[in-house]
Amino acid sequence: MSLAVIILAAGKGVRMNSQLPKVLHPILKKPMLCYVLEAAQKMEPEKIALVLGHDSELVKEAVSDYPVEAVIQEPQLGTGHAVLCCEDAFQGFSGDILILSGDVPAISFSSLREFTDSHVKNGADLSLMSTLVEDPGGYGRVLRNTDGEVLRVVEDKDATADEKKENEINTGIYCVNSSFLWESLGGLDSENSQGEYYLPGIVDFCVSRKRRLLAFSLADPKEVSGVNSREQLGEAEKTMRQAINRRHMENGVTIEDPETTYISDSVSIGRDTTVCPNTYIYGETSIGDGCRIGPSVYIEDSRIGNNVEIRFSSYLTGCEVENGVVMGPFCHLRPEARIKDGAKIGNFVEIKKSEIGVGSKVPHLSYVGDADIGDGVNIGAGTITCNYDGVNKHRTVVEDRAFIGSDTMLVAPIRVGKEATTAAGSTITKDVSPGALAIERAGQKEITGWAERKRIKKEKS
Ligand code: UD1
Ligand code: CA
Repeated sequence: MSLAVIILAAGKGVRMNSQLPKVLHPILKKPMLCYVLEAAQKMEPEKIALVLGHDSELVKEAVSDYPVEAVIQEPQLGTGHAVLCCEDAFQGFSGDILILSGDVPAISFSSLREFTDSHVKNGADLSLMSTLVEDPGGYGRVLRNTDGEVLRVVEDKDATADEKKENEINTGIYCVNSSFLWESLGGLDSENSQGEYYLPGIVDFCVSRKRRLLAFSLADPKEVSGVNSREQLGEAEKTMRQAINRRHMENGVTIEDPETTYISDSVSIGRDTTVCPNTYIYGETSIGDGCRIGPSVYIEDSRIGNNVEIRFSSYLTGCEVENGVVMGPFCHLRPEARIKDGAKIGNFVEIKKSEIGVGSKVPHLSYVGDADIGDGVNIGAGTITCNYDGVNKHRTVVEDRAFIGSDTMLVAPIRVGKEATTAAGSTITKDVSPGALAIERAGQKEITGWAERKRIKKEKS
């Protein structure tokens, strides 16, 4: 049976109290809706319809990388109405439709797969995913008769005190035969406390018409926590973070303090790497085997090789670090920094759009921007590439095995040849020939007996 997906994301998310549409609130730096889209994509559906309403342009823009068909729901008359808005988009489609909520981001592909498989196996017209929770407040409750058969779903706002005690909740995830779906939606009304067309009304329809209803209970309620408030956003983030950290630990990564380690789902980390506390690894980042990262390190969209050590309070974005590099504490690698094998980047060093060659060292207090530093180079403390003349950026080239003395100003564009040396404190404005020493300093004067004369003068006054 072919499968398609509808994702509901038209609501405003009033309880978030935010300018930003609810489904765009980030979890580990990625909009929560993207997690739902990715789980949906893994189901390999024939198509994904995304129902948008509030700030639809903003949401559409944020998910432009995903193959979705946007359906606009205007005005938003409830979840049942939202699905009904998709009817035209599904003309000619006769398979099953998996309905997901944009605000239930922790749902896993494997649970969805299990759910749709049992829908098909049971020959159900409608499958409802439920779960048991300790605190069902806010959710729709699943009501059953004395034989344990599902009767209907009652919304929190419409429930009696007794019904509110039920702790089996509707997760907002359904799998429905498409012809049954359109038929049942036609029967919805909005006679409830919110005056909305409730999607769970299709459960009543299924029961009253004696069609085949499957109630699928998911074991782990954390996967289906809905995000309606900032507090629930925090809880969902924690659930997802723990799942990601657990996966890395199973793959042979030591995470010293999972409670304070934040890793996005797109990150890969090799075996026997240790991630120390208070560390953040986001975006399209890969880290090799045997590394030591942290404590208190931030890495985003970067490629890190094997056996790399990134020490305390270092901040890396968009950079590439090859094998055996040691860096930090307190270094800042900005986009397009490329640190080659075995190089050493020390404390208070900023590197941008520059290559640091094999085994080269930038150990202390330097700014290296728009530079090509060769192999085996030593950059002395306090060196600065003066790459910006106020209008344009210029490149600095330092060839293999050159020695840049401490506190050298390299005024770009400039080239320091192979094995050349610059003297400490020099402002280098002209290219330096290979093997030469370039020195640029005012001559040192000496005034003898100065301290003695100063002392006598003070005593007299
Ligand atoms: C919904 C369910 C509830 C379930 C809970 C699970 C209904 C009426 N209630 O409640 O039974 O326990 O989810 O998390 O379905 N949306 C639209 N258009 C609308 C209204 C909502 O697209 O007109 C979207 C929202 O953007 C959201 C999703 O549907 O992504 C769910 O809406 P929300 O208002 O959060 O429903 P809940 O009150 O959480
Ligand atoms: Ca919700």
